[in-house]
Amino acid sequence: MKQALLWIMEVKTYVCICLTKPLASRFYDKKVNKCTLIEGIFNYHIEIINVANLKGEITLRVSYHGHSVVQVKTKKHTILIDPFISGNEACDLDANTVEADVILLTHGHNDHVGDTVDIAKRTGALVVAPNELAVYLGQKGINTHPMHIGGARDFDFGRVKFTQAFHGSSYTEEDGSIIYTGMPGGILFTVEGKTIYHLGDTALFTDLKMYGEMNEIDLAFIPIGDNFTMGPEDAVIAADWIQAKVVVPVHYNTFPVIEQDPKEYVQRVNTGEARVLSIGESIQL
Ligand code: NI
Ligand code: MN
Repeated sequence: MKQALLWIMEVKTYVCICLTKPLASRFYDKKVNKCTLIEGIFNYHIEIINVANLKGEITLRVSYHGHSVVQVKTKKHTILIDPFISGNEACDLDANTVEADVILLTHGHNDHVGDTVDIAKRTGALVVAPNELAVYLGQKGINTHPMHIGGARDFDFGRVKFTQAFHGSSYTEEDGSIIYTGMPGGILFTVEGKTIYHLGDTALFTDLKMYGEMNEIDLAFIPIGDNFTMGPEDAVIAADWIQAKVVVPVHYNTFPVIEQDPKEYVQRVNTGEARVLSIGESIQL
């Protein structure tokens, strides 16, 4: 049975109390996110960690689907980041059925835009992307919102801020014609008080340190594939600079040229908890 871990904050020594699910739920007050009844009785300030778990509610669930594909599920919305599904052999999602209210794109490369147009046409999802890419995709008849590096916006599904990424950005049409799609970016996505940093495709650059200092990052998706992006060595430094609580490697093993051992990478990360997510695996924040 799931247990609640309670911290009694006002006694100098930390005391942990474990309650079984029904008992903890009885004392839990959703509005203040505290066990107020216990507080009343014992006059301690008590916080429950992971109460959502206890009550069987999904609050914020972030899952990995191969390459750079990330899905964020909040209470009300499903957000896809860089939904490269068709042609991504590692991906467990189905482009014909996947849900999406919002699609966030880091840049125009086909291994990131992926199935965006088809998914957006089917679901009506809003596509948020760097300006040139948003304008281009908008011409294909989908609903887009243009943004750009350094810009942030509060949407009803969360706050999006575009960061720098040192990379390229172009979209290759089926006939082989290449459309340039402006600057590539990374995405800081804040929802329900948690910040997720999807770095997109990028080299290591020192302003990652600034993003780490300016933001309390709960979860970072860092490319480790090398060749097109930073490789594992640089990605270890990136993790140090970003200072995320949890680091997850992405953009590896999709193609022979980006083959890497993600387990070796996470062992080398010095800052925060580094985790390899298997396909479809999720983290609850
Ligand atoms: Ni790329
Ligand atoms: Mn890529």
